[in-house]
Order: sequence, then structure tokens, then C-alpha cells
Amino acid sequence: MVKLADEKNVTHDSDNQVFVSASFTDNRRETPTPTTIRIGLLGCGTVGGAVARQIVKANDQLVANGIRLEIVRSLVRDTAKPRRDIPPGLKLTDDANVFLAGAYDVVIEALGGLDAPRSLIQRLLARGTPVVTANKQVVAANGEAFASAAEQGGTQIRFEAAAIPGVRFLETIGRPSITGGVSEIAAVLNGTTQFVLSSIVAEGLSVDAALHRAVVLGLAEPDATRDLSGLDAADKLRLILREAGVETGEAIVPASVGVDAITPQITADAARLGGCLRQVALARIEGDCATAYVGPAWVGERHAFSRLGPLENCIALRDATGARTLYAGVGAGPDITARALLSDVVAVATSTIAAGRRSVRRIKIRANIRTPWFVYASFRRDPAKPEGIGELLGKCGVSFRRFETASAAVGASRAVGITFPLDAATVRDATKTIQEVTGGTLLAFPAIEDSTHGWASKRERLDRLEARRVDSPAKS
Ligand SMILES: NC(=O)c1ccc[n+]([C@@H]2O[C@H](COP(=O)([O-])OP(=O)(O)OC[C@H]3O[C@@H](n4cnc5c(N)ncnc54)[C@H](OP(=O)(O)O)[C@@H]3O)[C@@H](O)[C@H]2O)c1
Repeated sequence: MVKLADEKNVTHDSDNQVFVSASFTDNRRETPTPTTIRIGLLGCGTVGGAVARQIVKANDQLVANGIRLEIVRSLVRDTAKPRRDIPPGLKLTDDANVFLAGAYDVVIEALGGLDAPRSLIQRLLARGTPVVTANKQVVAANGEAFASAAEQGGTQIRFEAAAIPGVRFLETIGRPSITGGVSEIAAVLNGTTQFVLSSIVAEGLSVDAALHRAVVLGLAEPDATRDLSGLDAADKLRLILREAGVETGEAIVPASVGVDAITPQITADAARLGGCLRQVALARIEGDCATAYVGPAWVGERHAFSRLGPLENCIALRDATGARTLYAGVGAGPDITARALLSDVVAVATSTIAAGRRSVRRIKIRANIRTPWFVYASFRRDPAKPEGIGELLGKCGVSFRRFETASAAVGASRAVGITFPLDAATVRDATKTIQEVTGGTLLAFPAIEDSTHGWASKRERLDRLEARRVDSPAKS
């Protein structure tokens, strides 16, 4: 802001025009004395360690804005454990009571797991200490309890780092809506599976080999069970739904077939239909119910999800008016997670909105989502002929919009297709029955194309605009 230094230098000439001969003070360059934000750090492992390292860089930017971040103390299991590149002088304790005795403006939770973080977060919020966390598991399971504790303590909990760390979208969908709120969510929410599935396509790797590479690159934890099974994405979907104003009351159960069932062959056959496989989280909210699906899906090549890079995640939201919004960004890795946590710390420090309880309505979650399905069948050639599998599925109520057979080794055959929209239960029952009859493998994943959850390509949008222009020529 430029401030007029000395009013007496303002003079008027005979025509009463104003001449200003004053000297100006340009206080844009003045650096305000920074306010120190005292941080308590729960955990100093992969993410906590990255937070400790990133704070040094963050302060270079923040000091000019009047903020300085400082870690007062960190809680760990073993204070003697060697820790890579941790700033010297960082105080560690293995005693939760010593940690809780500290005075903090914000606490960052990076412990992981459920029980220890739940009780610590609960106590901190109840006493009025704001908390930020990257722990989707604990937030998904305790969202309501944390909201109550924060209300009781007059404070807030933020968890932007727990969904897609590289993208701030939760605070947007968490605002009271002027359009009736979110009605549909389609998202790719897990960094590990995105990397694994991209590596299968790009290099023909198996899930195990791709996962090994992700662990070596620091993009996945050695135990990736929660990622591959969909439990991690299901937790994220639940916490996103909560931010959108609906509480499921119970965990969302992922599909029984996870990403670990996907082979390079299935991936190649998915590509024959012009698409690729992704792990997705889908939810459609209708009144007091929502249908949800978390697991592998076939994504058409024109859909935004098919163009995501190996490190990218994405969420597509549709509101009650039908308008759609897409957020995409980096979805995995300790450094991006640390930056998202620190960004939440700054949001807490600069927040002017008093903590308050948002209105959340309780909904029932059903797994019976209705969508077109990608069906993959691999079975012995005899007695079930490849052409026959489509007919068998048709008899069970599964009819195809596209269907292709692929010859394979002698004595075996494969077929892939995209069905018309069907309920999950119909597809599940049909594939189970036919699997029993043929003794083969039948997999069915939702098929997502532009018409269901997707976004039109630039070409399609231009075509539509062109069609509209032709239909209603501009009045001259
Ligand atoms: N890793 C990622 O890229 C990533 C990305 C997004 C979100 N997250 C989330 O971030 C959280 C932390 O993950 P992480 O990978 O950083 O885990 P991690 O490497 O295992 O680190 C956990 C830290 O917490 C400490 N700790 C754990 N339980 C404790 C207890 N009961 N009492 C005291 N200290 C305890 C550990 O102490 P010691 O060091 O002494 O063992 C360690 O410092 C998880 O919720 C995870 O889902 C991780």
C-alpha cells in the first residue's frame, strides 16, 4: 500500500487543481515483524521428516508475509532412531504427556494408524488446539467426533493433505453451497495404484514389479494392501463426502476385486476397446441415499482420468444443477504431502472464520451403483466358445454395447465388452453364474466415459459449440 507521507505538501492552484509535491513512503518493501506459529509435530517419519525439512524453505516465503513457522517439539516412538536431514536442534520426545504439555498454535499429525492419533487429536481439539493431518484413515473413521471436539474447543481440524495433497479442493466443497451441493463424485484418489496401473500400461510390468518400483522411488509404502484393495481410496471418498455435507455413518466397502487382480493382459484388452484401467472412487447422492463404488474401472480414452500421469490424482464433481468441476494434481509423495500440511497450517494461522459446525446430513450408502460395465472374460475355448460368452451373459440380463473376442493360446480364449448401463447386482450375479459354468475368469468393472462421469474433450466441446452455432445463427 502506498501511503501519503505529508499532507501539508498538497497545494491548490488558482483553478483549484490539486498538485501533490509530497514525498511518498512506499511501505511495500517493509518486512513486517513475523508472528511465530508454534507447531507441535506428531510423528517424524516419512511425512513428519519432510515437514521438518520443508519448514526451512516455507519460511523463506512466509516471513515476507509476516509468518514464521517453528517446530516446538515432535513426538516419535524412538528418540534414538537415526533420522535423515532433520534440522539440528529439533526436540524429540517419546512421551505423549510431555508432548501434550507443550504450547502450540497448531499441531500437525503425521503418526499414521488409528488409535494413537485418534485420542491425541481428540484431546488437542477439545482443549482448543487446531490440528492438521494427512491421515485419511483416522479422519474417515472419526469425522463426526472430531467435528464435535473442535466445536467444543472452539477450534478447527484441516485435512487437505489427506485427499489429494497437490490440490486444495476440500475447503471449496466444504463451503455452504449456493447450488444445492455435490450430487456426484468421480475420482482417482490413490497415488500408489495410479503409479502401478500407469507402469503396467507403459512398460508391461506386473503389479508386483510396478509396486516394487514405487516403493524404491518412495512413492508407496512397503505394505500397499490398503492402496491396492481400495481401502485407502474408500477412506478418502468418505471424508470427501463428509466435506460435501453427507455422513455415511459407516466405512465404504471397496469392490471385492482390487487392482492386484489386474494383469498386463487385462490392461492390453482394455486398450483394445480404446480405454485404460484406473482405480476409481464413485459416489452418486440421491436424497438420503448414495450409491458408491471403489475399485478398478475402465476409463474411455477421451475421459480426463485416462490422461492422468503416473503421479497424478483427480476429482470430478457434479453439483445439483448438473455443472461439473474438475480438480487434478500430484497425489502422492512425502514432500507434496508436507507442503499440503504446511499450507493447512498457514490456513489455520490466517483463518478469520470462526470454527463452527457445518450442517451434515446422514445418508445410507448402497453398493449397487448403476453404470455401463467393462467385462473381461478369459476361459477355456471348449466347451464355452468365445462367441457364446456374450450370449450367456445376455441370458443373464447383461447386454453389450460393444463386444470383441480375442484369440489366445490354443485351448483358451478371451472376450471383452462394454455393457449398456446396469445395476452392480445384475452384473455381479451374471459373472458369478457364468464363471461357475465355464470355469474361466470373469471380471466386471464400471466403464466411465464422457456421457457418465466424464468431461468432453476440447474437440467435442468445439463440435458442440459449432453445432449450436449452426442451429441458432447469431442475429445480425
Ligand atoms: N508416506 C507418504 O507419502 C504419505 C502420503 C500421504 C499421506 N500419508 C499419511 O501420513 C501419515 C504418516 O505416514 P508416514 O509414511 O510418515 O509414516 P511413518 O514413516 O511410519 O512415520 C510415522 C511417525 O510417527 C511416529 N509414531 C507412530 N506411532 C507412534 C506412537 N504411537 N507414538 C509415538 N510416535 C509414533 C513414528 O516414530 P518413529 O520414527 O520413532 O518410528 C514415526 O516418526 C499416515 O497417516 C499416512 O497415511 C503418507
